[in-house]
Amino acid sequence: MMQDKINQYTAEIKAANPANAAELEEFRIKYLGTKGIIKDLFDEFRTVSPEEKRVLGKVLNEFKQLAEAKYAELKESQESRAKSQDIDIDLTLPGEGFELGSRHPLSLTRIEIIDIFKRLGFVVAEGPEIEDDWHNFSALNFPEEHPARDMQDTFFIKKNSGKDDIALRTHTSSVQVRMMESGKPPFRAIMPGRVYRNEAISARAHCFFHQVEGLYVDENVSFSDLKQTLYHFVQELYGEGTKVRFRPSYFPFTEPSAEMDISCTICGGPGCNMCKYTGWVEILGCGMVDPNVLENCGIDSKKYTGFAFGMGIERITNLKYVIRDLRLFSENDVRFLKQFQTEII
Ligand code: PHE
Repeated sequence: MMQDKINQYTAEIKAANPANAAELEEFRIKYLGTKGIIKDLFDEFRTVSPEEKRVLGKVLNEFKQLAEAKYAELKESQESRAKSQDIDIDLTLPGEGFELGSRHPLSLTRIEIIDIFKRLGFVVAEGPEIEDDWHNFSALNFPEEHPARDMQDTFFIKKNSGKDDIALRTHTSSVQVRMMESGKPPFRAIMPGRVYRNEAISARAHCFFHQVEGLYVDENVSFSDLKQTLYHFVQELYGEGTKVRFRPSYFPFTEPSAEMDISCTICGGPGCNMCKYTGWVEILGCGMVDPNVLENCGIDSKKYTGFAFGMGIERITNLKYVIRDLRLFSENDVRFLKQFQTEII
């Protein structure tokens, strides 16, 4: 009886041909496992008569060796097959290319502006986009209920008594206040960041945009320092020979205030539709920091003077790349964005 079984299993083992590692494992469990056939046969062997034992002992041991040898052989052949599959790669095939992203045009402009001012010794300062009334308006000499607050169509988050209003900042001048409040002059910093104004979205206006503002406070800072710094900035950004002109203007936080125009970057002067046939385009607002602002921030306005300026990154970018629709900057259309491939990584 046992002999018959062994004969049958022997035939089965010889014919076994597991196709993969899982089937090989099934083979092992079936014959060699702790509850497998060989274990069962040895259990049964203990119950047979001494005469039978003499014959069957040898047969059973041979059978066990056969099963173990077959398992070892199958395992080795499967492993070597797997190995040869591993290196079965055509090394002459071209590699998979990967696409390089590109910088957003506004980032390119921001980086360029920061670079220019860094070379002049300005540091970069940042502040929160959600601001209180003090930092966005009051400290900057906007009187309460003053119509100048309407100049900057504000998104209010919490409208309280005016003094405690919380709003999305309308300009990064708020960062100038934070900087002056928390440090001591001299200050020489630029403040890049996103700002918000409640305007209908069109080709020429958006409800958010990006600014870089600058602040320079020290003893004996004069309007000529302001002019020279901005003149230098424009030569670096738009190339030598770009002309500048200053027109008187009004901001609550600067006195005197001015707006700066540059000769049209597209036509260079004679007039085109970018400069509305004037030859000039406005790029920033600036002025001498109002003594009230210095005092609001705890700075002695008898000892210190300063200048400040602020520009829209979108505007600077439009002039540089001749982009006529502001909405392109926030639509994330890759066909637009891909045109700004650059070496700056
Ligand atoms: N904060 C002004 C604005 O957003 C710009 C500005 C900054 C003007 C500094 C003068 C001086 O319009």
